[in-house]
Amino acid sequence: MDVFQQIDELLQEISNAQIGDAAQLEDFRIKFLGSKNIIKPLFGEIKNVANERKKEFGQAVNALKQAAEAKFNGEKDRLEQQVENASMADMDLSLPPINGYKGSRHPISIVMNRIVSIFERIGFTVAEEREIEDDWHNFTAMNTPDDHPARDMQDTFYLKDSVQRLLRTHTSSVQSRLMTKTQPPIRIIAPGRVYRNETISARSHCQFHQVEGLFIDEKVSFADMKQTLLYFAREMYGPKTDIRLRPSYFPFTEPSAEMDVHWGLEDENAYRITKGTGWLEILGCGMVDPNVLENCEIDPDKYSGYAFGMGIERQAMLLYRINDIRLLFENDARFLRQFHSMF
Ligand code: PHE
Repeated sequence: MDVFQQIDELLQEISNAQIGDAAQLEDFRIKFLGSKNIIKPLFGEIKNVANERKKEFGQAVNALKQAAEAKFNGEKDRLEQQVENASMADMDLSLPPINGYKGSRHPISIVMNRIVSIFERIGFTVAEEREIEDDWHNFTAMNTPDDHPARDMQDTFYLKDSVQRLLRTHTSSVQSRLMTKTQPPIRIIAPGRVYRNETISARSHCQFHQVEGLFIDEKVSFADMKQTLLYFAREMYGPKTDIRLRPSYFPFTEPSAEMDVHWGLEDENAYRITKGTGWLEILGCGMVDPNVLENCEIDPDKYSGYAFGMGIERQAMLLYRINDIRLLFENDARFLRQFHSMF
């Protein structure tokens, strides 16, 4: 067959090719554009073409190759467009999302935010401070003598550095941080994480959270503290909630107390967490010891104040019926997901 005729026939074949899917497109590509395509050998035929037609021949083979490329690109675009249109048509935009889960707040944050907002409503402002503290702010300024058991290596994580820094064991370190920086009136609430070297179990962990409160002004009394804490308990646990203050001891407050809220014994979890009493101890409190004020250069003859510090984990466990504190630190999505509707 005449090579010119051959080219004409291939041109015909290219323009008539019916390409309906990706497989047919691939067949086309292999035949006309692949490494062993049928156009390639035609280029070698030029030696058999009469001299005066060589130029014409060259142009014809090139045109053939371009026609194959154009067909391929055109069909490829068309097929891609088809797939896209088809998937749009197949889409049901009214279906509910398959995975509508967008993450949620951690139960500790939920409880902490609630506590903070209760105090913000009565004029407390949030103060946040470092978790790596020095001995002075965590202990000495807080009237905790050198031989106090709280300083025992068993309880405190010390950093291996020359200035003996430590991981704060309570948010009370925020008190001394603030009092050395500011003169009264001081009215702050300080949420944060604290650390103690304790054996991890269902009931205790080496890290947990506290919210500290501090109010210092002229003529602040124990009655002011009690009324503020009663307001807090009723906002947090319901308007009929009862509280009780039991005398206690903290180095940095005098007098000191622990506050229980009445939780009742309605379910097994409440029984366990309140140790069968129906009362849950949620915070320590007291009037700021004059020694602490003096350590921080606040005049104890002019100013007085109260402070309190509460644990978050136990309250969260009671509110959400969580029976193992470790769940709060493992970040198991199956656990965390259950709090998705809360804020
Ligand atoms: N810092 C105390 C604790 O961790 C709680 C507390 C704070 C007590 C403020 C009295 C005043 O147990």
